Amino acid sequence: HLLLEKELPETEVIVVSNREPYIHNRINGETVLQIPASGLVAALEPVMRACGGTWIAHGSGSADRETVDANDRVAVPPAAPAYALRRVWLSEEEQNGYYYGFANEGLWPLCHISFVRPTFREGDWRTYENVNARFADAIAEESKGRDPIVLVQDYHFALLPRLLRKRLPRATILMFWHIPWPNAETFSICPWKEDIIDGLLGSDVLGFHTQFHCNNFMETVDRFIESRIDRERASVTLGGHETIVRPYPISIEWPPAALASQKPVAECRKAVRERFDIGQDAMLGVGVERFDYTKGVLDRLRGVDELLTRHSEWKNRFVFIQAAAPTRSKLETYQGLQEEALALAAEINEKHGGKPIRLVIRHHEPDEVFELFRASDVCVVSSLHDGMNLVAKEFVAARDDEQGVLILSHFAGASRELAEALIVNPYDPHGFGEAMNEALTMPRDEQRARMRLMRALVRERNVYRWAGQMLLDASQLRRRQRVLDLI
Ligand code: G6P
Repeated sequence: HLLLEKELPETEVIVVSNREPYIHNRINGETVLQIPASGLVAALEPVMRACGGTWIAHGSGSADRETVDANDRVAVPPAAPAYALRRVWLSEEEQNGYYYGFANEGLWPLCHISFVRPTFREGDWRTYENVNARFADAIAEESKGRDPIVLVQDYHFALLPRLLRKRLPRATILMFWHIPWPNAETFSICPWKEDIIDGLLGSDVLGFHTQFHCNNFMETVDRFIESRIDRERASVTLGGHETIVRPYPISIEWPPAALASQKPVAECRKAVRERFDIGQDAMLGVGVERFDYTKGVLDRLRGVDELLTRHSEWKNRFVFIQAAAPTRSKLETYQGLQEEALALAAEINEKHGGKPIRLVIRHHEPDEVFELFRASDVCVVSSLHDGMNLVAKEFVAARDDEQGVLILSHFAGASRELAEALIVNPYDPHGFGEAMNEALTMPRDEQRARMRLMRALVRERNVYRWAGQMLLDASQLRRRQRVLDLI
């Protein structure tokens, strides 16, 4: 907030994303507020609470319409309003083409190496274009003739920076891509690759989580678009407009809001073991995610199987709770994954007896997730490919007792920062099982030493720093542009 006042005084901040930070649903005649399972929301919501401004997103809840004013706005968070949430309403057809189709059957598998074939359809692409244009109109309307600073989020809006630049030539546009960017050869699978790259290059700052993803993007631009690439400045100039392309590793707020209401670790351990009917002395592993094929849920279940097979001393002494939030359930790939996971969990439970795997398929609020983190001995993040993965950082933030072991996939961006985790290759069940055994037998001193280092890193590189760095870069460019405007 202070940074904004100093560097970008009187500038309107607008965030745009597909997913909204607060969803109002009608359940049994009551309006129930839900915070969606989304790394993007977890990161940006605290930033908006600090900065104020407007967040524009698709209104997705069954009771969302009842909460908005005549301009489709609602002040949030409901308990202590700090910014405005403006909902954009999409028809079922728009959602099918733009969200389920192009974004989640096309770009999502394209950018993640998880061996699900991307599907591209002309109709989905057209809808994606139209929805991007609808959001550009909403932002232009929201800017009320001023030059806002617009933070565009994620692969749902690759065309938005260019569309916005046409509508608001003097706006400062920051685009953040929350998922990996593949190599040029892989990206060329997309029939509209040039349009996507051109769309993104309408921004002033284009951010990825890691340098590796920036390099992949630069290589893709180099191969498919006529432009000037300045590797030293890390920028691309197209049609006279320069875009800075840099890594900004995303993070979480510190301390996380959900920690405030938590009971001491000993109480969390007791409560969760009672709730799941697990012996008080049993060791507990947890996994928390959206039920997405990129998260490697099947692979971690195989890891548990491997652990119990090779180290049978853990039978009846170890339980793994997997909290999995249903997501994008209209798509067959996601339905198939749920069925496969249920069958695999049943098979492993049958094989080893004592129900070592508990698969809980439902939405979990942040408070519940933090209680699980605090109750556990090990947290497993086994993404097959992930831009960053904030669950890993949340687990570390939840453990103010400096205990607990994080097992983290080498293929999650977070593994670049959280080097004191046990880093695994989720495709190798044997190595995975051994890592679980190592975690379960790790001395408390070693747990403390590793946890301390990871906590210091997340505390220091928190989400305010992520947003602050992007805003600082944007303010420098804005000043420079204002000088050029005078010439
Ligand atoms: C990933 C994406 C986000 C998205 C989240 C949840 O983290 O990068 O943009 O919000 O998944 O997915 P959903 O489709 O439910 O919004």
